[in-house]
Amino acid sequence: MPSSFCTFVFLLIGAAAVSPAISQSSDPTEPMCYDWGVSREAVSVVEGQPGWLSCPLFSHPSVYNYTSSQNTGHNLFWYRVPEGHDLEQPISLSSRISKDRERLWLQPASAADAGQYICMLRNKSSCSKITMHLEVLPGGAALGDRCPPQGAVEPAQVVIPMQEDKRLHCPHLQDAAKMADGEPSVAWYHVRDGPRCDPYPFWNSDRQQVGSSLQVYVMLIQYQGIYLCTVSYLRKGRSLSFTRSINVTAVYPSILPKEPSILQPNSNQVFTVKLDTEVRLKCTGLFPYLESGTWDIWWTVDGKTVDQLADHRFSKDNRQVKYDFGDRTEESLLIIQRFQVEDLRKEYNCSVRNARGFDTRRAQLQEEASLPSVELGWGLGVTLVLMLLLFVVYHVFWLELLLLYRSWFGSDERHTDDKEYDVYISYARNSEDEHFVLSTLRSVLENQLGYSVCIFDRDSLPGGTITDETLSFVARSRRLLVVLSPGYASQGSQALLELKAGIDSMARGGHLRVILVQYKPLLRKGWVKELRRARVALTLVRWKEHKSSELTSRFWKRLRVELPVRRVSSKSEKEDAALLRLHSQNSTHSQTGLLISATKCPETMFRSVV
Ligand SMILES: *[C@@H]1O[C@H](CO)[C@@H](O)[C@H](O)[C@H]1NC(C)=O
Ligand SMILES: *[C@@H]1O[C@H](CO)[C@@H](O)[C@H](O)[C@H]1NC(C)=O
Ligand SMILES: *[C@@H]1O[C@H](CO)[C@@H](O)[C@H](O)[C@H]1NC(C)=O
Ligand SMILES: *[C@@H]1O[C@H](CO)[C@@H](O)[C@H](O)[C@H]1NC(C)=O
Repeated sequence: MPSSFCTFVFLLIGAAAVSPAISQSSDPTEPMCYDWGVSREAVSVVEGQPGWLSCPLFSHPSVYNYTSSQNTGHNLFWYRVPEGHDLEQPISLSSRISKDRERLWLQPASAADAGQYICMLRNKSSCSKITMHLEVLPGGAALGDRCPPQGAVEPAQVVIPMQEDKRLHCPHLQDAAKMADGEPSVAWYHVRDGPRCDPYPFWNSDRQQVGSSLQVYVMLIQYQGIYLCTVSYLRKGRSLSFTRSINVTAVYPSILPKEPSILQPNSNQVFTVKLDTEVRLKCTGLFPYLESGTWDIWWTVDGKTVDQLADHRFSKDNRQVKYDFGDRTEESLLIIQRFQVEDLRKEYNCSVRNARGFDTRRAQLQEEASLPSVELGWGLGVTLVLMLLLFVVYHVFWLELLLLYRSWFGSDERHTDDKEYDVYISYARNSEDEHFVLSTLRSVLENQLGYSVCIFDRDSLPGGTITDETLSFVARSRRLLVVLSPGYASQGSQALLELKAGIDSMARGGHLRVILVQYKPLLRKGWVKELRRARVALTLVRWKEHKSSELTSRFWKRLRVELPVRRVSSKSEKEDAALLRLHSQNSTHSQTGLLISATKCPETMFRSVV
């Protein structure tokens, strides 16, 4: 116990330097006596039980040794300062109070014995003394009547590995034996779960009293607890007894491995660290029970302990995590303030050691990604959802979007070219197709969408060469609308001529676009060479009978996308259109066009009529 030794030496030096000897005798031959003050060791005895005071001067044999003090002619004297007195008085020895080497025995102690005691070691030329305090604990009922019996001394600690054996000896039995007339007798008790007390013999044979000792043959967890032994003896006709206690705890068997191990960090664990923050590296070690209980857990940074580093940014914090039948799990935290980039390059090792072995493990450190991955994930997610939304919106509403875009940003081709017609309709000259062209296509294009439409049979002049006229009309139109049906493009027909003219004009960059409208599906042989060429390059808008009758249907939207940009018609234009419809119903026949003497476009023509 080096620390208490230091205290003692300090006391010794302090007393010698500061306080003068108090026991100055009138006799000048008597030496001055060095006073060590009051001993810190509290001594207690139980009333009615034997006990003793041991002179504290001899607690540190390297300073005072009883045997050697006898050799230098020293004698030990005991004094007492009774309660309420200032002066020490010599103790009169009796059969109850006796001296044995450095001890003053009280057999038994009485309540009146409490107070201050002084032991003085003196020879002719030197003297030392020390004061101590004696406390007498109330003894209560007669021994043996209570269970557990009261003990005066702190329990002795005894550890027994599970499944192993151990013999328990009652403390201070030998001291009593020296005093006793004859052999002392010993009685054992086991105290478990608070005040419950089992006197020996216990209910099984794992523990047996052998002589005065208690032999544990097979240690089990339930045998843990406080064991009491009561020593009884006779001395000078007086029967005496005292009780001592032993705290028995179980630990894991000695056959188990006892090398220390590092539980954390495990070999593939990576500590994620954030720069400029406080970083805590946690290491936990397991130390199996060992009788020589020395163990240690510590961090090193580049091979130096935190103390050796002497860097105020680095500190440690150790604590016990678990204690399990002698096996202790200990934790050591390495705390690094304001973690720096260069700290990443250092080698952080956690090490453990006990009497049986050593282990060390390097901690893997990794810098946390500077952009918080959670936010990045969110950003990506939102972008993806938006893209998906746009994709869906585009695919469902692309026609509407296109039309909307055109109505805002599209340029009116009328301002940039000198064409007369918006649309030239080319179709097979049979009554069914003609009816579709005149009553549906033309009617909607002219009346509802406000386009100027040219239909050759209606708008061409009689007498001219059909070929020249056709080419001329097609050239003066912005779009060539080809109405496809099985009868279209029969060899040498007018319609085929129109198609050829349109494709040629397109190929020559004549500001003309051809639109294919499939009125009725074509047979295989109906796809003549010109049509096949056109089909590859152009969009085909399919007419789907009643599904396409509404102006809001896909057919009309797609068609409008292909047609020149035209702003939404105003109210007056609509009224015009209504009138037009009336008029056209009266003159659906293709011959009407021939009756009107002009090569002008139909729109202007009808306007002049109104
Ligand atoms: C005290 O001194 C004697 C001899 O002087 C020696 O044999 C003995 O071991 C010493 N005791 C202690 C406890 O140091
Ligand atoms: C008294 O003890 C001291 C040591 O403490 C020793 O030096 C001295 O010789 C002793 N005196 C006598 C008379 O034996
Ligand atoms: C007995 O020892 C154990 C372990 O050392 C301790 O936890 C317990 O408090 C002790 N019991 C008493 C009564 O001293
Ligand atoms: C740190 O631990 C590793 C094993 O994880 C070992 O190889 C290395 O020597 C140790 N470094 C120090 C300074 O102990």
